[in-house]
Amino acid sequence: MPQEPLRMGVVGVGLMGERHARVIARIRGCILAALADVDEERVRRIAGELGAAAYTDFHTMLREAELDAVSICLPDDRHLEAALAAAAAGKAILLEKPIATRVDEAVAIVEACRQAGVILQVGHLLRFDNRYASVKQAIDRGDLGEIVHITAHRNSPWTQGPSRYRPGTSLTMHVAVHDLDLVNWYTGSRPVRVYAERVRKRLRDRDMDDAVTAILRFESGAVATLQYSWVLPARSVTQLDARLEVLGTRGMATVGTYHGQSVLVATDDGADAPDVHHGPTLAGQVKGDVREEIMAFVETVLKGGKPLVDGADALLAVQEAEAIERSLRLGTPVLLDEARAR
Ligand SMILES: NC(=O)c1ccc[n+]([C@@H]2O[C@H](COP(=O)([O-])OP(=O)(O)OC[C@H]3O[C@@H](n4cnc5c(N)ncnc54)[C@H](O)[C@@H]3O)[C@@H](O)[C@H]2O)c1
Repeated sequence: MPQEPLRMGVVGVGLMGERHARVIARIRGCILAALADVDEERVRRIAGELGAAAYTDFHTMLREAELDAVSICLPDDRHLEAALAAAAAGKAILLEKPIATRVDEAVAIVEACRQAGVILQVGHLLRFDNRYASVKQAIDRGDLGEIVHITAHRNSPWTQGPSRYRPGTSLTMHVAVHDLDLVNWYTGSRPVRVYAERVRKRLRDRDMDDAVTAILRFESGAVATLQYSWVLPARSVTQLDARLEVLGTRGMATVGTYHGQSVLVATDDGADAPDVHHGPTLAGQVKGDVREEIMAFVETVLKGGKPLVDGADALLAVQEAEAIERSLRLGTPVLLDEARAR
């Protein structure tokens, strides 16, 4: 087991990787040793500021930087090669969600980490969000009784995901996996059947979904309805309108208000509901779930144990996402066992 200080590297220092790097640089017991990104100017600038070594090739970083662990923050469809290389090099891995954009790649990553005996935690950060975690606690205490129905909304402006992530991922793979992981966590049950409908209007020319509604039935009898889109207006008051309701036989719980955030700042120039939960920079430091998630990863690597969200959890979310996409193509319900066997 690695000893303190844990030497960590980050692969991909775009939006998320830069946040990871800034959090890691401030964790006591951790050294941000190296960063890798194909964007040389960017990686040198961020590494210089944070006192880490800069690489443009993550294979070289894995060979030279004497790391204990890596955080992989590459685009959704580029996770496989880096995760396999890190596992082969014996590094503990924090891998951004989705684990991969294909089930076969997700299986390969989980298997490689198992064979190499390295810890794999996947970045489903809502499990580290106090609001969602407190709902989980209420469910586990039995306060809500048996789960009957979960409704989740996750909407963001078209100027975010669709422009930044095409063509390597999809609305379902990039966005819905968050709520898929939550409903799996909350129900503690296997999904059996999925049916989904899509709408394509604003993004039709780009061959992308504007919005999807997916219905999942679980072995327990619970049903979850996920509604997600990335076509909110550019000047939407919020960058993320995420809400959730869990209805049980004895109670209910909700997360999120109408614009999905807790804070609204309004001025003569307009209104803004800033992110205060997931990764806000406050007083120059990255806070929120992303920090909690990385701290939990560091603790698991140093002290051992199973990550709160591991490869099997993340694989299940991608299996469900693939089944949703199959249902969208076929226009019929899809059985999860069939989807898993394919
Ligand atoms: N948990 C969350 O809430 C959340 C939010 C946003 C993004 N993400 C996830 O984080 C991951 C990264 O997303 P992002 O928004 O930071 O993307 P991004 O496009 O901002 O950053 C990706 C970075 O990877 C670099 N890169 C690409 N290929 C590379 C390679 N072969 N070697 C080295 N560097 C390479 C790019 O130059 C870029 O700097 C994605 O999987 C995404 O789904 C998670």
